[in-house]
Amino acid sequence: MEAIKAPRGTYDVLGGESWKWARVVNTARGVADDFGFKEAILPIFEHTELFSRGIGDTTDVVEKEMYTFTDKGGRSITLRPELTASMVRAYLENGLRHGPQPVKLWGWGPMFRYERPQKGRYRQFAQIDFEILGVSSPFADVEIIDSSMEIYRRVGLSNLRVLINSVGCPRCRPDYRESLRKFFETGLDKLCETCRDRFDRNPLRILDCKKPECRELTDSAPPMIDSLCEECKEHFMSVTRGLEKLGADVSLDNKLVRGLDYYTKTAYEILSGDLGAQNAVCGGGRYDNLAEAIGGPGVPGVGFASGIERIIITMEAQGAFMGNEPGTDVFVISAAGAEYEASLLTHELRAKGVSSDMDFMGRSIKSQMKYASQTGAKFVCIIGEDEISSGTATVKNMKDGSQETTRRESVCGKILSWKEAWAQ
Ligand code: HAM
Repeated sequence: MEAIKAPRGTYDVLGGESWKWARVVNTARGVADDFGFKEAILPIFEHTELFSRGIGDTTDVVEKEMYTFTDKGGRSITLRPELTASMVRAYLENGLRHGPQPVKLWGWGPMFRYERPQKGRYRQFAQIDFEILGVSSPFADVEIIDSSMEIYRRVGLSNLRVLINSVGCPRCRPDYRESLRKFFETGLDKLCETCRDRFDRNPLRILDCKKPECRELTDSAPPMIDSLCEECKEHFMSVTRGLEKLGADVSLDNKLVRGLDYYTKTAYEILSGDLGAQNAVCGGGRYDNLAEAIGGPGVPGVGFASGIERIIITMEAQGAFMGNEPGTDVFVISAAGAEYEASLLTHELRAKGVSSDMDFMGRSIKSQMKYASQTGAKFVCIIGEDEISSGTATVKNMKDGSQETTRRESVCGKILSWKEAWAQ
């Protein structure tokens, strides 16, 4: 029988890799704490309508990429392709708008999109997502952009470009859409098939096309910035001025429109120079009409999401991960007959906050030593035959090879003092 493999576009994250994930997620958690965001843990599947109404049913995500199925109760269910619509649903459903505003939420976890897999693009991928709900101030936009950049600063990323644009609002966008249609009308036959289709349904998305024949035309398309209403213009100026004050290096990108329909005013992306074709490490913006689109009252919001895999690929390319997967503090090596003592010692060490592990394979002392070194243990504690008879243990520092034999009851104290010295 043929062995079963993981589905296309998915991957396993195992020891050797999962510590990198932990580092990225813990960094995001630290930033969330420092910026006052509270964690939201939301369902991985939702009613399909949440996404078709929230994200927009002419978007690629909704039209082509959703994992949708009918459950046993006959409901149409979709594996979440992103978190923003769920965040807004949770905010409305749990009455958070009746409490103090704004509400700052963050979350992370798997998302699902049926896309063509390639480096940095998967069918199951993970996002870190930050949202500020219930406030329309441009300073919330500044804070969102700054919090995303803070995550990258803390994990040590460089070679990033922050691009920003305004996609306007329902007041000024129809005029812009019209001026785009006028612009593209004469060169319609030069556009790719997808963009010809976009011409009627959503001409703004033509600006996003990466095909050379379309780019040639879009390069000279009128910029949205020139069509913004006073309010959107003012908002955009405040956001860019706010970012400038923080010393953020941000560039205007007239063609940045984003692939989800809920955006109003600010839209931004952060691109990595070390990712290849799928170079967006982060995307976000303001979505003041999303709550209404999913049946709620008007609630402004702004947020971003960042792909964890893409952060890790960029970190690896830039050598931002120092060293190897961290091992336990101690590996307890025991000769045959000392297993009970080894078990008790690891138990005591763990109770004192020293991470420890031991052998379960009945291996020789030499091969236990090799294993301890392979797993990256900082110290080993040996209970060999001599130590069994003398009631002692030998503690060895794996960094400099120094070792010391000590009474069994003093082992924990010895290791604790060595651990402290190691950390300095
Ligand atoms: P998005 O641009 O669709 O925005 O995705 C955000 C980020 O998720 C991308 O920049 C990328 O890093 C990662 N990503 C997206 N698709 C994939 C994929 N197939 N494989 C790997 N990584 C991927 C959103 O999802 C919005 N909800 C962002 C947002 C939050 N806007 C406001 N609040």
